[in-house]
Amino acid sequence: MKILVAASEAVPFCKTGGLADVVGALTQRLGELGHDVCLFLPKYRAIRAAPLEGGMTRWIKVPFAGGAADVGLRFLHRHGVSVYFVDYPLFFDREGLYGNAGKDHEDNDRRFALFSRAVLEGAKAVGFKPDVIHTHDWQTGLVAAHLKRHYKNDSHFTGTRCVFTIHNMAYQGNFPRAALEAGGFGPEDWSSEGLEYYGQVSYLKGGIVHADKLTTVSAAYAREIQESPDRGFGLEGLLRRRSKDLRGILNGIDLKVWDPSSDASLPRRYSSQSAVAGKAACKEALQRECGLEVRSDRPLIGVVSRLDHQKGLDIALAALEARLKRCQLVVLGAGDPSLTEMFVALERRHAGSVHFHRSFDETFAHRVYAASDLFLMPSRFEPCGLGQMIAMRYGAVPLVSKTGGLSDTVFEEPRAGRPANGFLCKPSDGEDLAKALDRALAAARAPGWDERVRAGMSGDFSWDRSAGLYLDLFREVAPK
Ligand code: ADP
Ligand code: GLC
Repeated sequence: MKILVAASEAVPFCKTGGLADVVGALTQRLGELGHDVCLFLPKYRAIRAAPLEGGMTRWIKVPFAGGAADVGLRFLHRHGVSVYFVDYPLFFDREGLYGNAGKDHEDNDRRFALFSRAVLEGAKAVGFKPDVIHTHDWQTGLVAAHLKRHYKNDSHFTGTRCVFTIHNMAYQGNFPRAALEAGGFGPEDWSSEGLEYYGQVSYLKGGIVHADKLTTVSAAYAREIQESPDRGFGLEGLLRRRSKDLRGILNGIDLKVWDPSSDASLPRRYSSQSAVAGKAACKEALQRECGLEVRSDRPLIGVVSRLDHQKGLDIALAALEARLKRCQLVVLGAGDPSLTEMFVALERRHAGSVHFHRSFDETFAHRVYAASDLFLMPSRFEPCGLGQMIAMRYGAVPLVSKTGGLSDTVFEEPRAGRPANGFLCKPSDGEDLAKALDRALAAARAPGWDERVRAGMSGDFSWDRSAGLYLDLFREVAPK
């Protein structure tokens, strides 16, 4: 099949969260399976791709804001995927993918409206006639809208279908009404059946309304976003109306990127057979690196997270602090200033037991997963969550709240032939979290712990099954 993927981030080029892991790994997997895959990304300042420098640029004209923008397309071929970077320095050559210093870029409406249109013009310019366009989250929500509104009679896209994947309903890409015209849409799109969302323009809604099929990143989240206003953010009714077109497909992780037996960032590599000794060495090294007391008997709790309300880390604070005589905590995170302040203060109060690494640091993340005995992810909601899967792959036992993809991947009791691999608490419930933490800390010192570690390490987190489910959907939707 000819599959065009459009997204706002993808590893190894640029990343702020799990979206990048998913887009990077899934496109590569589809390419390896022999499909003709091309990926469109914005050419941010932070794009990490040496061959781009000095690479060929093709110039295209993209209809935009009543005129036309001259946009560059830079090309790279990597692991079976043709990658096109949409180069428009005025919009993308700056610090931060979506914002800088805690503030969203003010022109995100224009940036991603232009990007979405450039994807379609780019496909025409390079002669890629897709069977399916796979778009992700609000940043590319307008691609489906453009396809249906402006390209429906364009022979280049005859037979092209669009699949829109929702990674997080909490980000809707809402902008003032003026964004409608700037993005190339008109009054006929300003309705509850169109792009209007509570008096604003919603790019996420554009994807939900106009794509032929919808997916989200776990079966549990697919149910939750149709059932509750908390999860559906007012779009739950629309999602229910599109229920037969909406599917939950669980994410995988890239088993080559996340592999403790070959991970160059670790002081000691290990497999599930050598996990006990390997993890002990990684833990000791991290304790030294972070200035923690070097103690093998203290369970080390790891957190690798965006610091965001979603992740529920504030709910865990009291339970953690009351138990720091029995365990240690390493937090890697960046984001919300008040959560940052919370961990700065916690580290100050508990020097030697708590280390807060305040940054987005991919190499350090690998060392935290490897060194941790427990991995904490007490999310208020979680569409899928990759952190808990990566943690299990590295033999860190997850303690997570029972919501979304976390409840589809972590089991405290054996379930449907799958062994217990972690600990669960109710979401948004500090007391229940404290109890789960007590169970986990007691288990970490008891016989049987190694089985739980191995149960996680032998779990199947590959893309094999889920890539197949996406392909089934693509085949279903694309005309024969
Ligand atoms: P989300 O996409 O909501 O942030 P996921 O669990 O799906 O949550 O994915 C998070 C991804 O981002 C994982 O690959 C995780 O290792 C990575 N990550 C999160 N925070 C950091 C950080 N501060 N530094 C490095 N990597 C991080
Ligand atoms: C979003 C979600 C996260 C999910 C990721 C990749 O960032 O918050 O739960 O794992 O997308 O799909």
